[in-house]
Amino acid sequence: MNDIQILGSLPLYGEQRVQGSKNAVLPMMAASLLHKGTTVLENVPQIEDVSCMVRILEKLGASIQRDGHRMEIDAANLDSCEISLDYVRKMRSSIMVLGPLLARLGQAVTYYPGGCSIGKRPVDYHVKLLRDLGIAVEEKDGRIEARAGRYEGTQLWLAFPSVGATENAIMAAVGAQGETVIRGCAREPEIVELCLFLAGMGIETVGAGTDTIRVRGQESGKSPVYRVCGDRIAAGTYLAAAAVTGGEICLNDAPTAYMKTILEVLCACGCQVMAEGSRISLKAPARLRAVPYLETAVYPGFPTDMQSIFLALLCLARGNSVIQENIFEGRFETAAELNRMGAKVRVEGRKAHITGVQSLKGAEVTARDLRGGAALVVAGLAAQGTTTIHDCEHVYRGYEEIVKDLQSLGARIEKH
Ligand code: EPZ
Repeated sequence: MNDIQILGSLPLYGEQRVQGSKNAVLPMMAASLLHKGTTVLENVPQIEDVSCMVRILEKLGASIQRDGHRMEIDAANLDSCEISLDYVRKMRSSIMVLGPLLARLGQAVTYYPGGCSIGKRPVDYHVKLLRDLGIAVEEKDGRIEARAGRYEGTQLWLAFPSVGATENAIMAAVGAQGETVIRGCAREPEIVELCLFLAGMGIETVGAGTDTIRVRGQESGKSPVYRVCGDRIAAGTYLAAAAVTGGEICLNDAPTAYMKTILEVLCACGCQVMAEGSRISLKAPARLRAVPYLETAVYPGFPTDMQSIFLALLCLARGNSVIQENIFEGRFETAAELNRMGAKVRVEGRKAHITGVQSLKGAEVTARDLRGGAALVVAGLAAQGTTTIHDCEHVYRGYEEIVKDLQSLGARIEKH
């Protein structure tokens, strides 16, 4: 069974380390294919999505050694260029292997990832950028087959600052002859981290973190050793958990510089937040304040991955809040589960209207997706009585030890 059971309304106290970033390490693992040698990654979170990416890389011919949070990837000898459908179904971000495979081997086969519970999640931006690079891409019966002879660097435009498409564009451009200029890039921290990682391979890029990134086509000349930064969404999740339980916690290894808007919203809700280096401390108010209007946006705006968690948090605030979800078309699935716990959330299109309640009551609920499941954990920690959350395999895709971590902060929470 993949259940989590929580006896709620216990304030969280104590210190907690923040895990390595899921959304930073996955593109780095894909990028390791660019190097005909060994790549070392440190602070790698032990989560299901990382294990899935390990299996994908091993199927391509890489050999991977793991020792705790350290991972060594030897991609010297690749003997396949196909990412199988069952992996694509398990993890849509497997699409980001396309770019490095084409740069390295000149060919790649994958499949259209199905949508998931947060939206359709097409991959048209990825396919377009490969074609704009002069790479032949055949799409038939859900299968994507890409073949690249020698391809020249060029000017690329992204219609939307898609994080994954930006990452794929950068990695594909490494295999081009000459320079590629990518405009309309995502500015997320995970792009900055990827380019820092590529620099460790001797692959120079300019502009990461802005909307224009220049990539000079080149071979990887060095075996990188790179420490993955802390996970800003996992850190935000734990801070929200302390906020809703009236607790006081301190996080270590937090990517503070990447969390500005998350911390601003926590302060707006009445929390006292102190950030120093990689430490963040939070003291919750007796009762959280509502946020009249909060909208998700591409970085540096409020991250869509925090939306479900703050939906749960604002259910308990004094007053009414509105959250507008601008990135995914279906990311309010968790509202129905929160309402089963006594929350008052009304979803209208891209807006969730929240009437704060004094308390939630424990109930049986079901996780629909990774961050929605984390939101139910946050709600269960605050609720009166016992909450049982089903289908928590979604949560373990992105949170390394959420149950143990919360237990160490005083929560009565168990895996069942
Ligand atoms: C990354 O997904 C993250 N995943 C997501 O985190 C995150 O929510 C998202 O970026 C936005 O910040 C990883 O990094 C592994 P997008 P990605 O391409 O790259 C549409 C989590 O919980 N779109 O920026 O897939 C798409 O449907 C996960 O950790 C197209 O239309 O996101 C969405 O509406 C969830 N066509 C929007 O763009 C495309 O070809 C943003 O998607 C690609 C995307």
